[in-house]
Amino acid sequence: MELKVKSTIGLVGEVSVPGDKSISHRAVILGSLAKGTTQVTGFLRSEDCLNTARAFMRLGVSISWPFPDVLEIHGNGLDGLREPGDVIDVGNSGTGIRLITGVLAGQSFYSVITGDESIRRRPMGRVVEPLKEMGAMIFGREGGDKAPLSIIGGELWPISYQSPVASAQVKSAILLAGLFAEGETSVTEPTLSRNHTELMLKGFGADVRSERTTATVVGRPQLNAQSVQVPGDISSAAYWMVAGLIIPNSELTITNVGINPTRTGIIDALRAMGANLVLENIREEAGESAADIVVRTSSLHGTEIKGELIPRLIDEVPILAVAAAVAEGDTVITDAKELRVKETDRIATVAVELAKFGVSIDELPDGMVIYGRSELTGTECQSHGDHRIAMSCAVAGMAASGETVVHDTECIRTSYPGFEATLASFA
Ligand code: S3P
Repeated sequence: MELKVKSTIGLVGEVSVPGDKSISHRAVILGSLAKGTTQVTGFLRSEDCLNTARAFMRLGVSISWPFPDVLEIHGNGLDGLREPGDVIDVGNSGTGIRLITGVLAGQSFYSVITGDESIRRRPMGRVVEPLKEMGAMIFGREGGDKAPLSIIGGELWPISYQSPVASAQVKSAILLAGLFAEGETSVTEPTLSRNHTELMLKGFGADVRSERTTATVVGRPQLNAQSVQVPGDISSAAYWMVAGLIIPNSELTITNVGINPTRTGIIDALRAMGANLVLENIREEAGESAADIVVRTSSLHGTEIKGELIPRLIDEVPILAVAAAVAEGDTVITDAKELRVKETDRIATVAVELAKFGVSIDELPDGMVIYGRSELTGTECQSHGDHRIAMSCAVAGMAASGETVVHDTECIRTSYPGFEATLASFA
């Protein structure tokens, strides 16, 4: 599939974005390990999250859809999963494979988990090693670093793990395995990553503590089914935030967006660039807050993005690079070498694709320098199979002169079904 985008002005009105991807995955996982029926409202029906639901169905959990955006998970408790009859396939989802592997490490049966070509290239050693330390047997290609992974878990013992990376997927895999270990399992990370797992575990009744960058869970809890309300995904909202800021004559409200502080680095970065961005109607539900975000066309300037801010905006770097391209002056992004092991090497793919719009950009080993201010020219770009590259190119196309064609856009449905329709509504 391809997406044709024309130069656009005046984005006015309201848009909503689909449910948060991270929270949707976790709702399926914890709902499957809880006793009773968990109802998830605002569930993200994207390929990534559907694959997580399919995985737990394969593990014997009954999951139903009473309404299009409501998911019901009929959990059988912590020990209610059964050996799958076939390979579990997470598709494109890093969150899916790493978090489910954490759960499988606690099961005494045999399972095999894999994903698409991108997933089979991505590092799994970061979860496999600590899960093996806890007592699981896990095998994979390249010494256990690459999927497919085959797993025989069972009795685990708790660990205190010092993670070399700030990764919510690593932290969550270990905390989920910790549910099956007698005693306290803790993970300390170099800087704080998103904390949806900790918040939701608390909501389901687990004993979880968070102190600075350490999260601790007490094993063998009784998890009880919950009603989960999923807010809109700030990573999806980011496309319209940037579009509203860089496209002339815009005033756009993005409704019901999750603003968990471990995710709002994009708001901080855009404000540091001079964005006129206001949060309205702030509210809280089960530890997760949401707000409406109002953006107005702003003259942006370059900034420096590094350190603790990076995990709080890691998925937004491609669209932030589009904002930086049209900002006055240079933007320097460092401490972000994790971008090299995302769905694609996002330092390389952002640099290659933005250069096609006429942006002057240099790769760094752990980030990039974007030289503003660029006049974007419509072009032909490739998603490289990466949803965030596809959507960032589409927004760049709206701000560019002439027409832009983005090729290979099927991947958008892994995180943002309906993106194309919202885009078309602005044409
Ligand atoms: C996610 C964690 C992040 C993020 C990904 C979703 C999660 O990955 O990039 O899109 O839901 O836990 P890492 O944990 O690899 O940083």
